[in-house]
Amino acid sequence: MDTVRRISCFCYRNGQLWAENVPVTRIAEHAGTPTYVYAAEGLRAQYRTLATALSSLPTTICYALKSNSNLAVIRIFAKLGAGADVVSEGELRRALAAGIPPNKIVFAGVGKTKSEMAAALTARVLQFNIESEPELIALSEVAGTMGLTAPVALRINPDVDAGTHDKISTGRKGDKFGIDIAQALHVSQLATKLPGISLEGMAVHIGSQLTRLDPYRTAYARLAELVMALRQNGIPIQRLDLGGGLGVPYRNEVLPSPADYATMVRETVGQLECDLVIEPGRYFVAEAGILLTKVIYIKEGTSRRFAIVDAAMNDLLRPSLYGAYHPILPVNEAEPYTPLSPIDIVGPVCESADILATQYSLPPIAAGDLLAISMAGAYGAVMASTYNSRPLVPETLVDGNKMAIIRPRPSLEALLAADHIPTWLN
Ligand code: LLP
Repeated sequence: MDTVRRISCFCYRNGQLWAENVPVTRIAEHAGTPTYVYAAEGLRAQYRTLATALSSLPTTICYALKSNSNLAVIRIFAKLGAGADVVSEGELRRALAAGIPPNKIVFAGVGKTKSEMAAALTARVLQFNIESEPELIALSEVAGTMGLTAPVALRINPDVDAGTHDKISTGRKGDKFGIDIAQALHVSQLATKLPGISLEGMAVHIGSQLTRLDPYRTAYARLAELVMALRQNGIPIQRLDLGGGLGVPYRNEVLPSPADYATMVRETVGQLECDLVIEPGRYFVAEAGILLTKVIYIKEGTSRRFAIVDAAMNDLLRPSLYGAYHPILPVNEAEPYTPLSPIDIVGPVCESADILATQYSLPPIAAGDLLAISMAGAYGAVMASTYNSRPLVPETLVDGNKMAIIRPRPSLEALLAADHIPTWLN
């Protein structure tokens, strides 16, 4: 009988790591390494879990494309009925190209340009999340010129510490995001007067990778108070965008369940009878992705052992940028009771920060072995670059026993062809 040990959507079967019904070694042969691998059923399962928990609330789920914007990934969520949270014209185009209906698209982001506003107005998006007075005025001007009315939600900064990593906290006074809650009435009054603007909602997003509900509870309660104050001032608010941020278990953290989240939403804003929008990204995609990499060399230093692998900080930036932890699985499972020893997993990039894991306990590994850097489906491929002239990392999708490369590895010729030497240098 198969020995099956479940690790999110990636399981060991008879000592080999599989992605759904495809052995990971076969993916490495097909796509080469490094490559991201996503498990379609894993993506669907996460979406359905959250959608079910929220089913009794009038919620539009707008998948935050920034977490993983491959068209095939977006298409999976589009087919499940998702909307999209986009933050640039590029993301807007991706959402539309993947089949997300425009009336389920929220255009967020602190610095939308006028041409991006025009593109989103032309597409007829559900709402613009506006983060400052000048941005509101710019949108009014663009909509006026086009003879259209822009549906607007004001993103409020509720001054709540999300209790997450400093670099992904967004709802504290002093963070660049949102309109200070103390200025919300004034900006709302302006929004009701400006031509081309229809003020429909309020929005908050206090940060990413939240592992507790209480910061949400505080933020949503402040939002509810604000909505009541606005209504008393004759400003009707019918939609609330509750942001994203639901955490995932990188280190086996015990996290609030989607049902607990839904209960808290009902308790804090349920009585307002608003339509709701939420914008999760990471929750849907993190666990369903691995970064598959091959060991190039094992370097035995005098004080440290290094596995130099073919993936690097340009392919997965999170460890270098945030000190993030990603569990690592050898594709060949070690025999039970094999002793583990610490090793640094590093890439070939010429930076000391190019570390994927520090002093990670692994069974013996050798050059040529495959490793899966797990929980890498969110903020992995989207944050990749070509630093050190390394071609952009490819992406592969597995769905049951099907496998497809959903973004091929660019050739070095394509990499070089992007640059132009001006004729005066000839
Ligand atoms: N809505 C807004 C307005 C956001 O700024 C974000 C994330 C989301 C929704 C989605 O948040 P999520 O559900 O994915 O937590 N690169 C970082 C994460 C940056 C998040 C930026 N904003 C990382 O790798 O952890």
